[in-house]
Amino acid sequence: MIACLPFETLDKLDPKGKRILVRVDLNVPVQNGQVTDQTRIERIVPTIHELLEKGGRVILLSHFDRPKGKVVPDMSLQPIATALATALGCPVSFMHDCVGEEVEAATLLLKDGEVLLLENTRFHPGEEKNCQELSASLARLGDVYVNDAFSAAHRAHASTAGIADHLPSFGGRLMEAELSALYAALEKPERPVGAVIGGAKVSTKLALLENMLEKVDMLAIGGAMANTFLAAQGLSVGASLKEKEMFETARNVIHRAAERKCELVLPIDVVIAQEILPNVPTRVVPVTEIPEGWMALDIGPETVACLKKKLAGLKTLVWNGPLGIFELPPFDAGTTAVAREAGRLTTAGSLKTIAGGGDTVAALRHAGALHEMTYVSTAGGAFLEWLEGKILPGLTAISTTLEKTLSI
Ligand code: 3PG
Repeated sequence: MIACLPFETLDKLDPKGKRILVRVDLNVPVQNGQVTDQTRIERIVPTIHELLEKGGRVILLSHFDRPKGKVVPDMSLQPIATALATALGCPVSFMHDCVGEEVEAATLLLKDGEVLLLENTRFHPGEEKNCQELSASLARLGDVYVNDAFSAAHRAHASTAGIADHLPSFGGRLMEAELSALYAALEKPERPVGAVIGGAKVSTKLALLENMLEKVDMLAIGGAMANTFLAAQGLSVGASLKEKEMFETARNVIHRAAERKCELVLPIDVVIAQEILPNVPTRVVPVTEIPEGWMALDIGPETVACLKKKLAGLKTLVWNGPLGIFELPPFDAGTTAVAREAGRLTTAGSLKTIAGGGDTVAALRHAGALHEMTYVSTAGGAFLEWLEGKILPGLTAISTTLEKTLSI
């Protein structure tokens, strides 16, 4: 744990007999009413258990999906209450709204050690507008506010930000774990620190790349994003996905990396194909020899070997994004090999690996390396925005040490 978190933790809260409004992120994958990935649910259990064991009355707030301020029955949190009750090992009651007299009355009837889940906060248009009236109504339902939803902390919404103006506020155990891992990776990392950043487009990851350059000693770029960097240096990348309008930007990133003495690692060979289909004929070529009509769809074996060597020289690694089309074999091989090596070094104790954001979790799970990482964030967009160095309004709202307008 880091020495000084920017918010009060549960260590400073005596929950006994209090109504504790806990903002969690139950935006989990659901198919036919069944939760298909329990990760976010499992990760909020420690906070809820701790509050219940200490005699708190827990009222859970969350959004689910994007109903855009309307009641959309398919986006009700009710089916998730069952999965939550199983994970907690205790009953979870449910209310069909998240504000109003009936809901307030239900919170007042709660006994010590009981849990109540409220309906999707995004059914109210005031949620995403961070409407003061809604945040005040939510605040009436509790005596204190705990934010345990790092993965929604990039949203300035009534239940993630505005509510903290009305109640004594704390960060939950998951929030604490996420922040500690991110601080350990980027604020005070054990050096050398490196980043493996994959994904399709430079345009969506530019802010992240620019911020990473300032923080890490080695930055490895993979995925289709790498094609833009290669093409920007005058190489022909055939029919590969690339962003011509980002060539100048890519050259600036290369230039800035050299100025910062941040080692930029780009693919030296690639796996190419003429179609993006499973098990189509492929070839491995140096990046200088991609033929017309062929696409680079994964990093090649020499690049994998190079990245493995680089990882061996690091003490800390941040991982975001796949290095090829990992959903489509054989273009998963590069991501899988490098992820497994990161997992091996992490398990051996020579590397701390912090991963998160977008489809990173799916890629690491596919590689069988997910559970070997030091920390895997539950966050998608919030993890990316942190890596970009942006202000996370959900954090500043509960912050005790920062001006609400300052980035941490
Ligand atoms: C997420 O899944 O990343 C969070 O729950 C935030 O969801 P949103 O992108 O719909 O705000």
